[in-house]
Amino acid sequence: MIFDAIAGWLARRSVRRKMDRVFSRGRDPFGYEKLPYETGRLKAMEAALGDRRYASGLEIGCAEGVFTEKLAARAERLAALDVSPVALERARARLAGRPGVAFVEADVRDWPGPGAYACDLIVVGDVLYYLDKPMVRRTFEETFGRIRGWLAPGGLLVLAHGFAGPAERRIREGYRERFERLGLRLVSESAVGDPAVSGGVQCLVSCLAER
Ligand SMILES: C[S@@+](CC[C@H](N)C(=O)[O-])C[C@H]1O[C@@H](n2cnc3c(N)ncnc32)[C@H](O)[C@@H]1O
Repeated sequence: MIFDAIAGWLARRSVRRKMDRVFSRGRDPFGYEKLPYETGRLKAMEAALGDRRYASGLEIGCAEGVFTEKLAARAERLAALDVSPVALERARARLAGRPGVAFVEADVRDWPGPGAYACDLIVVGDVLYYLDKPMVRRTFEETFGRIRGWLAPGGLLVLAHGFAGPAERRIREGYRERFERLGLRLVSESAVGDPAVSGGVQCLVSCLAER
């Protein structure tokens, strides 16, 4: 118990520090606005939303708000959560004045959830592998059940995680399978990006809904 608590605290502190360091290097450290792989990946994630509008969206790991902007145009109400205050400051500036958008500084592993508003859209892009660490395995596994519990009946869950090669792809499929075991149905799945031009990296975009 004490071991879990200490390991959890260290893991949370470590990811926050790491992400703050990355974002402190300057704007757009992941190249979301300039790298063809990233722009293609975000386009595929946007296509995965379909043409419906959402009442209550949740973006886990919103970073500087590049995809948040797309989501804000599609959801009446949007919670955009990230562990990094540095990233959130830029996301807030990017979406300043947008009604219905709330930014939340939290680690998804201990965020209490959206409260009264179950979400009819949840997007988890390139986040889960930051949580997938041996010392905090139990919390990692519990996070799937917590996210699943935040999804409203009829809601859509979009997962998008980059991978390089078959072994990493299998791990990303494992994320999706955990949600399937929790009662969600796979609606669509595709590997996005040309590995020949993106250093071998592709992104597995999976859409899941209630059975
Ligand atoms: C690689 S970026 C992905 C940004 C965006 N979701 C996308 O798909 O382009 C990962 C983001 O997840 C955030 N993050 C990592 N671990 C997190 C955690 N445990 N709780 C909340 N956010 C986390 C990081 O701070 C970072 O902004």
